[in-house]
Amino acid sequence: MDRITSVPATVNVGDEPESNTSSNPWFGDIVAERLSRRQMIAGSVAAAVGVAVASRADAHGGGRNGHHLGHDFRRPLSPGFAPVPHSSADAVIVPEGYSVQVLIPEGEPLTRGAAPYIPGDLNTGADREGQVGAHHDGMWFFPFVHGQPGNRHGLLCVNHENINPELIHPDTQGGAYEAGNVRPIEDEVRKELASHGVSVVEIARDGGEWQVVKGKYNRRITVGTVMEFTGPVRGADLLKTKYSPNGTRARGTLNNCANGRTPWGTYLTCEENWAGYFYNSGVRPREQARYGVPAAATSTLGWGTRPEDPYRRFNTTPVAGADATQDYRNETNTFGWVVEIDPFEPKSTPKKRTALGRMGHEGAEVAPVTAGRPITVYLGDDARGEYLYKFVTKDVYRPGRTDGSILDRGTLYVAKFHADGGGEWIALAHGANDLTAANGFANEAEVLINTRSAADLVGATRMDRPEWTAINPFTRRVQLACTNNSQRGVAANQPVDAANPRRRNPDGHIVSWLEEGGRFEATTFSWNILFAGGPTAERIAALGAADSVYQGDPLYAVQAFPDSPEKQQFLGEDATFNSPDGLFVSRSGIFWIQTDGYSSASRGFGNQQMLAADPVTGDLRRFLTGPVGCELTGITETPDCRTLFVNIQHPEGSSTWPAIGGETRPRSATLVITKDDGGIVGT
Ligand code: FEO
Ligand code: CA
Ligand code: CA
Repeated sequence: MDRITSVPATVNVGDEPESNTSSNPWFGDIVAERLSRRQMIAGSVAAAVGVAVASRADAHGGGRNGHHLGHDFRRPLSPGFAPVPHSSADAVIVPEGYSVQVLIPEGEPLTRGAAPYIPGDLNTGADREGQVGAHHDGMWFFPFVHGQPGNRHGLLCVNHENINPELIHPDTQGGAYEAGNVRPIEDEVRKELASHGVSVVEIARDGGEWQVVKGKYNRRITVGTVMEFTGPVRGADLLKTKYSPNGTRARGTLNNCANGRTPWGTYLTCEENWAGYFYNSGVRPREQARYGVPAAATSTLGWGTRPEDPYRRFNTTPVAGADATQDYRNETNTFGWVVEIDPFEPKSTPKKRTALGRMGHEGAEVAPVTAGRPITVYLGDDARGEYLYKFVTKDVYRPGRTDGSILDRGTLYVAKFHADGGGEWIALAHGANDLTAANGFANEAEVLINTRSAADLVGATRMDRPEWTAINPFTRRVQLACTNNSQRGVAANQPVDAANPRRRNPDGHIVSWLEEGGRFEATTFSWNILFAGGPTAERIAALGAADSVYQGDPLYAVQAFPDSPEKQQFLGEDATFNSPDGLFVSRSGIFWIQTDGYSSASRGFGNQQMLAADPVTGDLRRFLTGPVGCELTGITETPDCRTLFVNIQHPEGSSTWPAIGGETRPRSATLVITKDDGGIVGT
């Protein structure tokens, strides 16, 4: 079976306009003129920036036409640095000629009047509501435009996915919670809610260093922030709660993993593993059971054991004699969405865009847009054997006029991969593809709230934990990280298939596809595997029968399947990885891969890492290794590609990283990576 589809590096898509081929690396000022919806006095901007007026550029820094999320380089650039070896050091290691600055560690004061961070994390829950949250994840840099390229000043939106209770509660290590009891310390729970969510951070570069600007844009969005529902599910019976009896509002966003950004300059944050924060000790309906909501408080952080309403809602057990508007039986249905945040409007209410479905949303990657055509958003659902989705808007993109409401009408599709290298997108639309009342879907709201069940019904392909998607604007190919899946070929409903070909898949792989005609809204595609993780050939041979996972698996004969099939190869020690997770294609064309996997001396894997690839040649090389216990996740850049922002999430165990400000507890933080000669990062 030949899974390799040969496609040219640059695809001519007929009626698509050419991508911007100017050699000028940045057109943000032109874009600002055409796109800015408003001008803003940025009175708080650091004096060093020396600027009075700032405005919104498009989300990817702009392009000549002001309406695509594409690239501004004539051709994609290739990795050009000397790779770093695997490492077990409690440090961030980058190639020779690069520098790293640590920015916004967990607990850094963010909003005006916020309490300073106290080493040992002695801050209260109220303190944390004004400070940077924990577990930095997906993020995006929105440049300000000052008539000059916005490479030195902008808003950084950062997701805060999770917490380490033992690190943020120095007295109790978060352990003062016993089965069957109420969680005893309310402030600990308050601090945990405040540690999740999103930070909007104004940052500016003063000389060589980036700094936080304590301006009006800085904002914490937490599990307590009021949100509004939009789209087909707004007002549905299954969204009605004691807090919002008409099903239009909710409190908070939770387990914010990867992200997206829109052409109109807003941020998309994605709710991933929300189910594990709830419990229902009664009968769990499918919208809870299919998503893994636990039966007992002891499987959770115990928020729902507290009597106060902001926490009690995480116990979704129906109250006897009550209806849905009098208890929190539907509270789980208010999570699992893609949330749109306008970082330029600090008082705006975040919107849960329900048309994009309810799942363990990993990310929401908006494809390059074209005026007069629909917008496509790619969506991973990260759990073993879950699916890959995309959403296509009903309305077409109109530069300067389109706003987030376009995401409220459209079609959610789920992917089916065929063994011959083809694939199709199956619409999850009520009334189509057997999604009818007779099959348990009474209306569109029921389809969307039960997205996973709908995808089950239409026979979509169960994937090896779909994490981030990333689009190459030069080739229009879409990439998906399938991080790993211990149940592949083990669980009865997850047999080995062409797109998920490795039994027990410990190391993961990256799938790549091209939509029919290069049109993102197409309903058919052709696919191949681009990279597969794993040890070197030499290590696999040396492991022999001692590591049976590698025995007899033909997919361990080749690990790189670039667009040029003649370049297929095994990966060398400079490129081996496991568990790909974060993916990002720079405007420069460099394809970045971040990992969230395991260390293993016998397999040759050290701490988690970030690699750079040229997907056409198959060149793959290690750019960065992280501290002990961390995950690499979250990546964005300035429009000129000369500053790269990368997140270190949950350094732990023996780690003391980043060991700044008198603190030795490990903390998540953002890295600012620059090339010492001022060049484009990764080249
Ligand atoms: Fe939050 Fe699937 O990573
Ligand atoms: Ca992830
Ligand atoms: Ca992961």
